[in-house]
Amino acid sequence: MALFHSAHGGNTREAAELLGIAPEQLHDFSANINPAGMPDSLKRALQENLALAECYPDVEYQRLHQVLAAHHQVPVSWVLAGNGETEAIFALVNALAPRNAMLVTPGFAEYRRALSLAGCEITEFALREDEGWQLTDRLLDALTAHLDCLFLCTPNNPTGLLPDDALLHAIVARCKTLGIQLILDEAFMDFIPEREGFIPHLAGNPHLWVLRSLTKFYAIPGLRLGYLLGSDTQKITQMRAAQMPWSINAFAALAGDVILQDREYQQASWHWLSCERPRLFNALNALPALTVWSGAANYLFLRCDAPQIDLQRALLERHVLIRSCANYPGLDGRYYRVAVRGQAENDVLIAAMTAVLSGINPVR
Ligand SMILES: Cc1ncc(COP(=O)(O)O)c(C=O)c1O
Repeated sequence: MALFHSAHGGNTREAAELLGIAPEQLHDFSANINPAGMPDSLKRALQENLALAECYPDVEYQRLHQVLAAHHQVPVSWVLAGNGETEAIFALVNALAPRNAMLVTPGFAEYRRALSLAGCEITEFALREDEGWQLTDRLLDALTAHLDCLFLCTPNNPTGLLPDDALLHAIVARCKTLGIQLILDEAFMDFIPEREGFIPHLAGNPHLWVLRSLTKFYAIPGLRLGYLLGSDTQKITQMRAAQMPWSINAFAALAGDVILQDREYQQASWHWLSCERPRLFNALNALPALTVWSGAANYLFLRCDAPQIDLQRALLERHVLIRSCANYPGLDGRYYRVAVRGQAENDVLIAAMTAVLSGINPVR
Protein backbone atom coordinates (compact mmCIF):
# COMPACT_ATOMS: atom_id res chain seq x y z
CA MET A 1 0.00 0.00 0.00
CA ALA A 2 1.24 3.53 -0.79
CA LEU A 3 2.70 5.29 2.22
CA PHE A 4 1.83 8.80 1.03
CA HIS A 5 -1.02 10.67 -0.63
CA SER A 6 1.30 12.92 -2.64
CA ALA A 7 2.12 11.84 -6.21
CA HIS A 8 5.58 13.45 -6.01
CA GLY A 9 8.77 13.22 -3.99
CA GLY A 10 9.70 15.85 -1.43
CA ASN A 11 6.65 15.27 0.76
CA THR A 12 8.59 15.56 4.01
CA ARG A 13 5.57 16.86 5.94
CA GLU A 14 3.58 13.66 5.33
CA ALA A 15 6.59 11.43 6.01
CA ALA A 16 7.47 13.24 9.23
CA GLU A 17 3.84 13.07 10.44
CA LEU A 18 3.91 9.31 9.91
CA LEU A 19 6.92 9.05 12.23
CA GLY A 20 5.82 11.77 14.66
CA ILE A 21 9.02 13.77 14.06
CA ALA A 22 9.83 17.19 12.60
CA PRO A 23 10.40 17.32 8.80
CA GLU A 24 13.92 18.70 9.46
CA GLN A 25 14.87 15.40 11.12
CA LEU A 26 14.51 13.58 7.80
CA HIS A 27 17.20 13.01 5.20
CA ASP A 28 15.23 13.72 2.07
CA PHE A 29 16.40 11.68 -0.92
CA SER A 30 12.95 11.77 -2.51
CA ALA A 31 13.25 15.19 -4.23
CA ASN A 32 16.04 15.78 -6.73
CA ILE A 33 17.35 19.09 -5.48
CA ASN A 34 20.97 20.25 -5.55
CA PRO A 35 22.23 19.74 -1.95
CA ALA A 36 24.40 22.86 -2.22
CA GLY A 37 21.25 24.88 -1.52
CA MET A 38 20.53 28.11 -3.34
CA PRO A 39 23.58 30.03 -4.59
CA ASP A 40 25.07 32.56 -2.15
CA SER A 41 24.84 35.15 -4.92
CA LEU A 42 21.08 34.69 -4.88
CA LYS A 43 20.83 34.76 -1.08
CA ARG A 44 22.60 38.11 -1.08
CA ALA A 45 20.45 39.48 -3.90
CA LEU A 46 17.25 38.44 -2.10
CA GLN A 47 18.36 40.04 1.17
CA GLU A 48 19.33 43.25 -0.60
CA ASN A 49 16.08 43.42 -2.56
CA LEU A 50 13.41 42.67 0.03
CA ALA A 51 11.63 45.86 -1.02
CA LEU A 52 10.64 44.08 -4.26
CA ALA A 53 7.84 42.48 -2.24
CA GLU A 54 6.23 45.90 -1.96
CA CYS A 55 5.75 46.39 -5.73
CA TYR A 56 4.08 44.40 -8.47
CA PRO A 57 6.63 42.59 -10.63
CA ASP A 58 6.82 43.73 -14.26
CA VAL A 59 3.76 42.00 -15.68
CA GLU A 60 5.68 41.25 -18.90
CA TYR A 61 8.88 40.14 -17.08
CA GLN A 62 10.84 41.94 -19.77
CA ARG A 63 14.21 41.74 -17.99
CA LEU A 64 13.76 38.05 -17.07
CA HIS A 65 12.81 37.10 -20.63
CA GLN A 66 15.80 39.05 -21.98
CA VAL A 67 18.15 37.28 -19.55
CA LEU A 68 16.82 33.83 -20.46
CA ALA A 69 16.96 34.60 -24.18
CA ALA A 70 20.54 35.90 -23.92
CA HIS A 71 21.57 32.86 -21.86
CA HIS A 72 20.39 30.51 -24.61
CA GLN A 73 21.19 32.84 -27.51
CA VAL A 74 17.65 32.83 -28.89
CA PRO A 75 15.25 35.69 -29.71
CA VAL A 76 13.32 36.95 -26.72
CA SER A 77 10.07 36.18 -28.56
CA TRP A 78 10.93 32.45 -28.23
CA VAL A 79 10.84 32.47 -24.41
CA LEU A 80 8.03 32.20 -21.88
CA ALA A 81 8.92 32.08 -18.19
CA GLY A 82 6.66 30.44 -15.64
CA ASN A 83 6.11 29.82 -11.96
CA GLY A 84 8.29 26.71 -12.15
CA GLU A 85 8.46 24.58 -15.26
CA THR A 86 5.14 23.11 -14.16
CA GLU A 87 3.33 26.29 -15.20
CA ALA A 88 5.03 26.05 -18.60
CA ILE A 89 3.82 22.44 -19.04
CA PHE A 90 0.21 23.48 -18.46
CA ALA A 91 0.54 26.66 -20.59
CA LEU A 92 1.91 24.66 -23.48
CA VAL A 93 -0.73 21.94 -23.31
CA ASN A 94 -3.50 24.55 -23.15
CA ALA A 95 -2.11 26.44 -26.15
CA LEU A 96 -1.38 23.39 -28.30
CA ALA A 97 -4.70 21.75 -27.34
CA PRO A 98 -3.56 18.30 -28.52
CA ARG A 99 -6.21 15.63 -29.12
CA ASN A 100 -3.98 12.52 -29.19
CA ALA A 101 -0.75 12.63 -27.23
CA MET A 102 1.87 9.99 -26.57
CA LEU A 103 3.54 9.64 -23.19
CA VAL A 104 6.49 7.47 -22.35
CA THR A 105 6.11 5.28 -19.27
CA PRO A 106 7.49 5.51 -16.68
CA GLY A 107 7.57 9.31 -16.83
CA PHE A 108 6.86 12.54 -14.94
CA ALA A 109 3.22 12.70 -13.78
CA GLU A 110 2.34 16.30 -14.65
CA TYR A 111 2.27 15.76 -18.45
CA ARG A 112 -0.55 13.28 -17.98
CA ARG A 113 -2.40 15.57 -15.59
CA ALA A 114 -2.16 18.57 -17.94
CA LEU A 115 -3.22 16.50 -20.98
CA SER A 116 -6.07 14.77 -19.16
CA LEU A 117 -7.42 18.07 -17.82
CA ALA A 118 -7.39 19.37 -21.41
CA GLY A 119 -9.45 16.34 -22.51
CA CYS A 120 -6.64 14.83 -24.59
CA GLU A 121 -6.48 11.08 -25.38
CA ILE A 122 -3.25 9.50 -24.19
CA THR A 123 -1.36 6.64 -25.84
CA GLU A 124 1.44 5.10 -23.79
CA PHE A 125 4.82 4.03 -25.07
CA ALA A 126 6.36 1.65 -22.53
CA LEU A 127 10.09 1.69 -21.86
CA ARG A 128 11.37 -1.82 -21.22
CA GLU A 129 13.62 -3.13 -18.53
CA ASP A 130 15.19 -5.59 -21.01
CA GLU A 131 16.28 -2.52 -23.00
CA GLY A 132 17.84 -1.04 -19.86
CA TRP A 133 14.88 1.40 -19.63
CA GLN A 134 16.51 3.35 -22.48
CA LEU A 135 14.49 4.99 -25.22
CA THR A 136 15.22 3.12 -28.45
CA ASP A 137 14.27 3.52 -32.11
CA ARG A 138 11.20 1.37 -31.33
CA LEU A 139 9.64 4.75 -30.59
CA LEU A 140 10.11 5.84 -34.23
CA ASP A 141 7.80 3.02 -35.39
CA ALA A 142 5.26 3.84 -32.69
CA LEU A 143 4.86 7.42 -33.96
CA THR A 144 1.94 7.68 -36.37
CA ALA A 145 0.00 10.52 -38.00
CA HIS A 146 -2.83 9.78 -35.55
CA LEU A 147 -0.75 11.51 -32.85
CA ASP A 148 -0.39 15.28 -32.52
CA CYS A 149 1.82 15.56 -29.42
CA LEU A 150 4.72 13.70 -27.82
CA PHE A 151 6.31 14.42 -24.45
CA LEU A 152 9.84 13.18 -23.83
CA CYS A 153 11.74 13.79 -20.63
CA THR A 154 15.47 14.11 -21.36
CA PRO A 155 16.96 12.93 -19.04
CA ASN A 156 13.96 10.89 -18.02
CA ASN A 157 12.42 11.02 -14.58
CA PRO A 158 12.56 8.55 -12.80
CA THR A 159 15.24 6.60 -14.71
CA GLY A 160 17.75 9.45 -15.14
CA LEU A 161 18.61 8.08 -18.58
CA LEU A 162 19.31 10.39 -21.49
CA PRO A 163 18.75 9.10 -25.04
CA ASP A 164 21.57 9.71 -27.47
CA ASP A 165 21.40 12.78 -29.67
CA ALA A 166 21.19 10.79 -32.92
CA LEU A 167 17.95 9.13 -31.78
CA LEU A 168 16.55 12.45 -30.59
CA HIS A 169 17.35 14.05 -33.96
CA ALA A 170 15.55 11.18 -35.71
CA ILE A 171 12.53 11.71 -33.43
CA VAL A 172 12.54 15.48 -34.15
CA ALA A 173 12.54 14.72 -37.89
CA ARG A 174 9.82 12.05 -37.67
CA CYS A 175 7.59 14.32 -35.58
CA LYS A 176 8.04 17.11 -38.14
CA THR A 177 6.99 14.81 -41.00
CA LEU A 178 3.96 13.55 -39.09
CA GLY A 179 2.85 16.95 -37.75
CA ILE A 180 3.47 15.99 -34.11
CA GLN A 181 4.31 18.70 -31.56
CA LEU A 182 7.39 17.42 -29.73
CA ILE A 183 8.00 18.60 -26.18
CA LEU A 184 11.41 17.85 -24.66
CA ASP A 185 11.50 18.29 -20.90
CA GLU A 186 15.09 19.24 -20.04
CA ALA A 187 14.35 19.98 -16.37
CA PHE A 188 17.57 18.22 -15.32
CA MET A 189 19.80 19.16 -18.26
CA ASP A 190 21.74 21.76 -16.25
CA PHE A 191 23.25 18.86 -14.27
CA ILE A 192 24.82 17.47 -17.46
CA PRO A 193 27.38 20.01 -18.70
CA GLU A 194 28.64 17.73 -21.46
CA ARG A 195 25.25 17.79 -23.23
CA GLU A 196 23.73 20.99 -24.61
CA GLY A 197 20.20 19.72 -25.16
CA PHE A 198 17.95 20.74 -28.05
CA ILE A 199 17.61 24.50 -27.63
CA PRO A 200 20.16 24.99 -30.47
CA HIS A 201 17.81 23.01 -32.74
CA LEU A 202 14.65 25.05 -32.21
CA ALA A 203 15.33 27.21 -35.27
CA GLY A 204 13.57 25.71 -38.29
CA ASN A 205 11.61 23.32 -36.06
CA PRO A 206 8.45 25.18 -34.99
CA HIS A 207 6.97 21.85 -33.80
CA LEU A 208 9.75 21.50 -31.20
CA TRP A 209 9.48 22.83 -27.64
CA VAL A 210 12.03 22.69 -24.84
CA LEU A 211 11.06 22.98 -21.18
CA ARG A 212 13.58 23.99 -18.54
CA SER A 213 13.40 24.18 -14.75
CA LEU A 214 15.70 26.23 -12.52
CA THR A 215 14.31 24.75 -9.32
CA LYS A 216 16.46 21.63 -9.20
CA PHE A 217 19.96 22.69 -10.22
CA TYR A 218 19.75 26.00 -8.34
CA ALA A 219 17.85 24.51 -5.38
CA ILE A 220 14.90 26.92 -5.47
CA PRO A 221 11.83 24.65 -5.57
CA GLY A 222 10.11 26.90 -3.05
CA LEU A 223 10.92 30.08 -4.96
CA ARG A 224 9.84 28.49 -8.31
CA LEU A 225 11.13 29.40 -11.75
CA GLY A 226 11.06 27.60 -15.08
CA TYR A 227 10.48 28.41 -18.74
CA LEU A 228 9.70 27.12 -22.16
CA LEU A 229 11.38 27.85 -25.46
CA GLY A 230 10.08 27.42 -28.98
CA SER A 231 10.37 29.09 -32.36
CA ASP A 232 6.60 29.20 -33.01
CA THR A 233 6.27 32.80 -31.85
CA GLN A 234 2.54 32.92 -32.61
CA LYS A 235 1.90 30.15 -30.11
CA ILE A 236 4.17 31.82 -27.54
CA THR A 237 2.22 35.08 -27.95
CA GLN A 238 -0.98 33.08 -27.42
CA MET A 239 0.44 31.51 -24.24
CA ARG A 240 1.58 34.88 -22.95
CA ALA A 241 -1.92 36.27 -23.48
CA ALA A 242 -3.46 33.35 -21.58
CA GLN A 243 -1.00 33.46 -18.67
CA MET A 244 -2.21 34.55 -15.24
CA PRO A 245 -0.77 38.03 -14.52
CA TRP A 246 2.18 38.20 -12.06
CA SER A 247 2.40 34.40 -11.82
CA ILE A 248 6.16 34.68 -11.15
CA ASN A 249 6.92 36.47 -7.91
CA ALA A 250 9.43 39.33 -7.91
CA PHE A 251 12.10 37.30 -6.06
CA ALA A 252 11.91 34.42 -8.53
CA ALA A 253 12.18 36.90 -11.42
CA LEU A 254 15.24 38.41 -9.73
CA ALA A 255 16.69 34.91 -9.27
CA GLY A 256 16.70 34.33 -13.03
CA ASP A 257 18.89 37.39 -13.39
CA VAL A 258 21.41 36.29 -10.76
CA ILE A 259 21.82 32.52 -10.86
CA LEU A 260 22.50 31.98 -14.55
CA GLN A 261 25.62 34.09 -14.17
CA ASP A 262 26.95 32.21 -11.14
CA ARG A 263 29.76 30.23 -12.80
CA GLU A 264 31.33 29.29 -9.47
CA TYR A 265 28.12 27.62 -8.27
CA GLN A 266 27.72 25.82 -11.59
CA GLN A 267 31.31 24.50 -11.59
CA ALA A 268 31.10 23.40 -7.96
CA SER A 269 27.81 21.58 -8.61
CA TRP A 270 29.19 19.71 -11.61
CA HIS A 271 32.25 18.75 -9.61
CA TRP A 272 30.15 17.47 -6.69
CA LEU A 273 27.96 15.36 -8.97
CA SER A 274 30.92 13.90 -10.86
CA CYS A 275 32.29 12.59 -7.52
CA GLU A 276 29.15 11.67 -5.59
CA ARG A 277 26.98 10.01 -8.24
CA PRO A 278 29.50 7.26 -9.11
CA ARG A 279 30.32 6.78 -5.43
CA LEU A 280 26.65 6.38 -4.49
CA PHE A 281 26.01 4.20 -7.53
CA ASN A 282 28.87 1.83 -6.67
CA ALA A 283 27.92 1.56 -3.01
CA LEU A 284 24.25 0.83 -3.70
CA ASN A 285 24.89 -1.44 -6.65
CA ALA A 286 27.21 -3.54 -4.46
CA LEU A 287 24.22 -4.58 -2.32
CA PRO A 288 22.99 -7.94 -3.66
CA ALA A 289 19.30 -7.05 -3.37
CA LEU A 290 19.64 -3.86 -5.45
CA THR A 291 19.97 -3.26 -9.18
CA VAL A 292 20.88 0.35 -9.92
CA TRP A 293 20.78 2.13 -13.29
CA SER A 294 23.51 4.60 -14.00
CA GLY A 295 21.59 7.74 -14.89
CA ALA A 296 23.01 10.99 -16.24
CA ALA A 297 21.26 13.28 -13.78
CA ASN A 298 21.37 13.95 -10.03
CA TYR A 299 19.37 10.86 -9.04
CA LEU A 300 19.54 7.10 -9.35
CA PHE A 301 16.81 4.65 -10.28
CA LEU A 302 16.87 1.26 -8.61
CA ARG A 303 15.06 -2.02 -8.19
CA CYS A 304 14.97 -3.86 -4.89
CA ASP A 305 14.45 -7.61 -5.09
CA ALA A 306 13.60 -8.15 -1.45
CA PRO A 307 9.81 -8.64 -1.36
CA GLN A 308 10.04 -9.54 2.31
CA ILE A 309 10.68 -5.90 3.25
CA ASP A 310 9.06 -2.57 2.43
CA LEU A 311 12.24 -0.65 1.62
CA GLN A 312 10.70 2.82 1.80
CA ARG A 313 9.13 2.19 5.20
CA ALA A 314 12.23 0.45 6.58
CA LEU A 315 14.42 3.40 5.56
CA LEU A 316 11.91 5.89 6.86
CA GLU A 317 12.21 4.31 10.29
CA ARG A 318 15.88 5.34 10.01
CA HIS A 319 14.76 8.87 9.06
CA VAL A 320 15.74 8.39 5.43
CA LEU A 321 13.07 9.29 2.87
CA ILE A 322 13.34 7.82 -0.64
CA ARG A 323 10.90 7.99 -3.54
CA SER A 324 8.83 4.88 -4.14
CA CYS A 325 8.13 4.55 -7.87
CA ALA A 326 5.15 2.22 -7.35
CA ASN A 327 2.75 4.93 -8.57
CA TYR A 328 4.52 5.42 -11.92
CA PRO A 329 2.58 3.68 -14.70
CA GLY A 330 4.80 0.86 -15.97
CA LEU A 331 6.53 0.27 -12.61
CA ASP A 332 5.66 -1.54 -9.39
CA GLY A 333 6.60 -1.60 -5.72
CA ARG A 334 10.11 -2.92 -6.43
CA TYR A 335 11.28 0.36 -7.97
CA TYR A 336 12.67 3.43 -6.21
CA ARG A 337 14.46 6.67 -6.98
CA VAL A 338 17.07 8.29 -4.76
CA ALA A 339 18.60 11.74 -5.12
CA VAL A 340 22.35 12.18 -5.00
CA ARG A 341 23.03 14.36 -1.95
CA GLY A 342 26.22 15.64 -0.32
CA GLN A 343 28.93 13.20 0.80
CA ALA A 344 27.87 12.96 4.46
CA GLU A 345 24.20 12.50 3.65
CA ASN A 346 24.95 9.92 0.97
CA ASP A 347 26.87 8.00 3.62
CA VAL A 348 23.73 8.04 5.79
CA LEU A 349 21.74 6.55 2.89
CA ILE A 350 24.40 3.94 2.16
CA ALA A 351 24.58 2.92 5.83
CA ALA A 352 20.79 2.75 6.17
CA MET A 353 20.40 0.70 2.97
CA THR A 354 23.20 -1.62 4.05
CA ALA A 355 21.63 -2.14 7.48
CA VAL A 356 18.12 -2.70 6.11
CA LEU A 357 19.25 -5.08 3.36
CA SER A 358 21.94 -6.99 5.24
CA GLY A 359 21.42 -10.73 5.19
CA ILE A 360 18.58 -10.41 2.67
CA ASN A 361 18.78 -12.85 -0.22
CA PRO A 362 17.41 -11.35 -3.39
CA VAL A 363 14.34 -13.02 -4.92
CA ARG A 364 14.47 -12.62 -8.71
C1 LIG B 1 10.92 15.95 -15.16
C2 LIG B 1 10.37 17.12 -14.42
N1 LIG B 1 9.88 18.16 -15.11
C3 LIG B 1 9.39 19.24 -14.48
C4 LIG B 1 9.34 19.31 -13.11
C5 LIG B 1 8.75 20.53 -12.47
O1 LIG B 1 9.73 21.46 -12.18
P1 LIG B 1 9.41 22.84 -11.49
O2 LIG B 1 9.77 22.72 -10.03
O3 LIG B 1 10.29 23.82 -12.20
O4 LIG B 1 7.96 23.15 -11.69
C6 LIG B 1 9.80 18.25 -12.36
C7 LIG B 1 9.74 18.29 -10.88
O5 LIG B 1 9.97 17.34 -10.20
C8 LIG B 1 10.35 17.12 -13.03
O6 LIG B 1 10.82 16.07 -12.35
